Amino acid sequence: MSADTQTLKPVDLRSILTFTVKLARTAGTLILEGSQAIQTTSDVNEKKNSVDLVTEYDVAVEELVKSEIAKAYPSFKFIGEESYSSGTRNELTDEPTFCVDPIDGTTNFVHGFPFACISLGLIYQKRPVLGVIYNPFLDHLYTGIEGQGSFLTRGNSQPLKLPLTNPKPLPSLQKALLAIEWGSDRGKKTLVPKSDSFLRLAGDPADGIAGGRMAHSIRSLGSAALNISMVAQGGLDLYWEIGCWPWDVCAGIVIAQEAGGAVVGSHAALAAATSAGSSIDPFKVTPDVLTGRKYLIIRAIPDTLNETGREAQLRIARDFYQTVEDGEPK
Ligand code: IPD
Repeated sequence: MSADTQTLKPVDLRSILTFTVKLARTAGTLILEGSQAIQTTSDVNEKKNSVDLVTEYDVAVEELVKSEIAKAYPSFKFIGEESYSSGTRNELTDEPTFCVDPIDGTTNFVHGFPFACISLGLIYQKRPVLGVIYNPFLDHLYTGIEGQGSFLTRGNSQPLKLPLTNPKPLPSLQKALLAIEWGSDRGKKTLVPKSDSFLRLAGDPADGIAGGRMAHSIRSLGSAALNISMVAQGGLDLYWEIGCWPWDVCAGIVIAQEAGGAVVGSHAALAAATSAGSSIDPFKVTPDVLTGRKYLIIRAIPDTLNETGREAQLRIARDFYQTVEDGEPK
């Protein structure tokens, strides 16, 4: 890497990955210590409302990560959930930029539900190029580099390439295991269309639910980064959320894409990209998609005689957006 031009080559990204994995594991130790401590104190603060939680450990982990990055890569920019919450606004530029959620799944962290992680993404030339997601409770490490694949390392085992098994076709939403999240906007304007959408995804159209898709089932892991990792792994068919932030999804986007997953922005973005005459790639993560706070991630689907995997992902994305209602995050 040349410091003056900030050109990142594949070999540079591999070396940044080594650094980032080490950092994620160090942060993981702090997260585990925090988890022990938080169960015996009630030191949980609220951000915009009583279900939008933050702890001193979110802040401490972000401080640790920020200072280690500043020492190792002083020219890199930094976007972090807690720095953003306390007023720091860093615009997206072409420069290498770490995009970090110190504890994704803070509610799980507070409750001792072992699905919380650190999510460390690297954005370069305005697109996510590297991702590390580490759940210290399960010792699951997800990594990915643009063009170099994505992997899951469980404990001391060898890294396993993602997806973990050969992907199967996905004929319809009815055959899918979906992930959604309740989010922290619980007012009528947000929650009613959201829960109506969940109703249609789960409901039986032959038994009173108009437009019901009767999907196999619906899950919420409580962490955007871990939902996306599970899609990359192949354990979930898709994940949809309106309202999360770039630091929740940045690392996961690389991990999912490298596992053959498709990342789509809002319903409107998909409609524009697939309208007649459009030359926009519906699966391209533009800065608008990255910062748009509306994400749909679909797992790898293999080519079949009738359609390519990419056509199948597009078919599922279209059907999904015909099923759910869009809304504006707060
Ligand atoms: C949240 C989690 C949650 C998702 C929210 C995120 P946080 O992140 O990922 O699953 O529904 O949109 O903001 O607050 O735990 O870092």
